[in-house]
Amino acid sequence: MLRLGVVGYGRRIGSLIEGPFRAVEPELRVVGVVDPDEEGARARLATCDREAVFYESLSDMVQRGRLDALAIGTRCNLHAPYAIEAAAYDLPLFLEKPVAISMDQAVALERAFEGSDCPVVVSFPLRVSPLCMLARDYIAADAVGDPVHVTAVNYVPYGTVYWEEDYRDFAITQGLFLQKATHDLDYLMFLLASPIVRVAAMASWERVFGGDRPAGLFCSECDDAQSCLESPENRARHGTDGSREDHRCVFGSDCGSRLTGTNEDCSSALLEFASGAHGVYTQVFYTRRDAAARGATVSGYLGTVSFDWYTNELTRVRHHAPFSATEHAGEGASHFGGDIELAHDFIGLIRGTQESRTPIDTGLRSVYACLAAKESAERGRFVAVRQIGT
Ligand SMILES: NC(=O)c1ccc[n+]([C@@H]2O[C@H](COP(=O)([O-])OP(=O)(O)OC[C@H]3O[C@@H](n4cnc5c(N)ncnc54)[C@H](O)[C@@H]3O)[C@@H](O)[C@H]2O)c1
Repeated sequence: MLRLGVVGYGRRIGSLIEGPFRAVEPELRVVGVVDPDEEGARARLATCDREAVFYESLSDMVQRGRLDALAIGTRCNLHAPYAIEAAAYDLPLFLEKPVAISMDQAVALERAFEGSDCPVVVSFPLRVSPLCMLARDYIAADAVGDPVHVTAVNYVPYGTVYWEEDYRDFAITQGLFLQKATHDLDYLMFLLASPIVRVAAMASWERVFGGDRPAGLFCSECDDAQSCLESPENRARHGTDGSREDHRCVFGSDCGSRLTGTNEDCSSALLEFASGAHGVYTQVFYTRRDAAARGATVSGYLGTVSFDWYTNELTRVRHHAPFSATEHAGEGASHFGGDIELAHDFIGLIRGTQESRTPIDTGLRSVYACLAAKESAERGRFVAVRQIGT
């Protein structure tokens, strides 16, 4: 039996534990939990974990829980504070992304892990997904030569969650570079085998979502539900993505504003890599249905490798030979097969049979790049990305 302690037993970590983690290690048991919402967390626990003890603090759980490993699944603002504490315990740690939401948090986290023996799996399923690994293998095997350029897109079909669910709370997320692009900037650095060193970014706020509808408004209480494209009835009628349950208004004043902070409808970043390559990343949150796209095109003098997780295909073009190839990946796994890979990494780390492919440095590098993008979009100028160890 592997004894896991969980800080913040929410929906994401709960579904990972019950799904991929337990698929890889059926003997995994949640034996300790730190979560102020004991009732809610207990309701999410699997039957085999119902004996889990709830503790007041992480230190209490580590002292008394006889743990083999830790997982941190709180919302974004608490990842860094708990991980800083966990760095002192040396237990294998599964850490949700983003690993920090501010420069102060990120620097403190970096310091906490200097000299720490705590091995970490940062929750970056895209980097370890089979399609991304295949692209990386081809690029490492010279399919494009020296990578010179990258284009990456993320047309999100389920973007309304960032306005109708708790992700709308800017104090907790700090916007969608940190919340969403942290995955993409991470896998781009992996593909190009080079850190991002400079960013110029733009964003559009309050053009689509947010607005002046009353705070606290739900569709069920709204006089416009019949005509509004976002009501559950109309989403169902039009076959569009988004919750079909009664939900908070995505045009509400409580989505925040430029003044108080709010998520962006879309944002883009021009990226410079330490290798000298450059590229562009764009994320769009109001798109739906067949507009969904997420992936990258990496090119160099010798060739182009491109892939998209929604079409589940990778195409490799040789620039100087009459051959092009498209490969199809298998389907059906969560996060494009990345979650099960993270589970293998984490269980392997606990068993001492595997190293993490997403150690703490990957989380930090990505956060530093996302913080630069956020600052650049807010201030309208190029921003140098802080590098680990500087
Ligand atoms: N890696 C991915 O692909 C991916 C996907 C989805 C979500 N996420 C991340 O997962 C995180 C959690 O999202 P979620 O939807 O599961 O949220 P959630 O609200 O369902 O879960 C958060 C949990 O933390 C608990 N909590 C609150 N305050 C706490 C405290 N002080 N100490 C300990 N626990 C506390 C809450 O009671 C809740 O149980 C987010 O940061 C999100 O960015 C990552």
